[in-house]
Amino acid sequence: MQRIEPRAHFEGEFKLPGDKSITHRAVMFNATAEGKAVITNALIGEDCLSTCACMRALGAKVEVDGTTIMVEGTPQFLDGAKLNCGNSGTTMRLLTGFLAGKGVHATLYGDNSLSSRPMGRVAKPLALLGADIQTTDGHAPVSVSPKALTGTKVELAIASAQVKSALLLAGISADGETVVSEPVKSRDHTERMLYAMGADIQEEGRLVTVKKSVLHAIDVCVPSDISSAAYFMALGALKGKTLCKNVGVNPTRTGILTAFDRLGVKYTLLNERVSGGEKIADILVEKSNMHGIVLTEELVPSMVDELPLVALLCAFADGESRITGAKELKVKESDRIFATAELIRNLGGDCTPLDDGFIIRGKKNLTGGTINSYLDHRIAMTGAVGLIASENGGYIQDPECCAISFPDFFEKLNA
Ligand code: S3P
Repeated sequence: MQRIEPRAHFEGEFKLPGDKSITHRAVMFNATAEGKAVITNALIGEDCLSTCACMRALGAKVEVDGTTIMVEGTPQFLDGAKLNCGNSGTTMRLLTGFLAGKGVHATLYGDNSLSSRPMGRVAKPLALLGADIQTTDGHAPVSVSPKALTGTKVELAIASAQVKSALLLAGISADGETVVSEPVKSRDHTERMLYAMGADIQEEGRLVTVKKSVLHAIDVCVPSDISSAAYFMALGALKGKTLCKNVGVNPTRTGILTAFDRLGVKYTLLNERVSGGEKIADILVEKSNMHGIVLTEELVPSMVDELPLVALLCAFADGESRITGAKELKVKESDRIFATAELIRNLGGDCTPLDDGFIIRGKKNLTGGTINSYLDHRIAMTGAVGLIASENGGYIQDPECCAISFPDFFEKLNA
């Protein structure tokens, strides 16, 4: 259990860890590319270390030194690898697609949380390309067997960057053209990085087209993760002023800024620039009087990991908020609809869980209490923000899970 003290004021400048999605992709894609790559400001969190370990098990050279990762790709993956994906859905789903056309057998498995998450959502559309993938009743362990793939058009029913990426990664090994469409555009780091590595890939709104391609290694300087910065941005809005430096603001990831606009949070993007094909900015957030909001389905993919935190902000806002179209939260590292509603209630707030979201009736002050993280990093960090902003503070159960995406979260909070 971690004790979190309330604070009257929270102010500071923060350098947050590298982006989790971009770090996974930089390691995974370079591991099969021609040449060597250096990845700087990488996230050295447990999820990305799972990706590093999997790529080593497949024959690539992957060395970690501080926040730098050196990768030397392997032209051919080793056959028969047993790949431990830990807690990481991104590792398992993207690798399943990547391996599908690589002519090898592999088995992917993970921890209890990952083993309860749906894998049919990648296996089924990959089968349309001819892939031979067996799940265990729609879950991990997942086995991939060699099969020649043929490109086709796939219309995804859910907006998931993990599922879309699995198909695009299979598509670069498939004959012909693979076209993937999704109902709402999800994060496009895969498309941008594959393009930068020389793949024949085109993005047109919600449609992505990819053809058989050879990847060339590229160095990547990873921007800081807006999903990690979000906790410090929220503390600025609730309790003072924060400046988060070098944050990735790819438009497919900035739903939280739209939520801020609606809540009435005062923020400014400074030093906007582009690096490695990704938009970056420093984000200044100041204490704001927030009011209730409505968020619906079309915004969910661009802020899917920030929704527990946005729900928490709504609990401190004037009036009622309604978040819907977010059924995906049920199949994250925990059932985040249940865990978030419980978190807000345990802080003394008022939140009704829905099948696809929440209704939150804001209060000016929440008392604090004990938060169960359900071993979910995003719930633990959202709980910490809520406790700092509460009257009495309280405790977080199993706080160590923050190491999945933000190993020094508590040190940064106390710095
Ligand atoms: C991710 C995509 C999102 C997100 C996850 C990382 C990625 O999942 O929740 O933390 O790197 O592609 P879905 O695409 O399944 O929503």
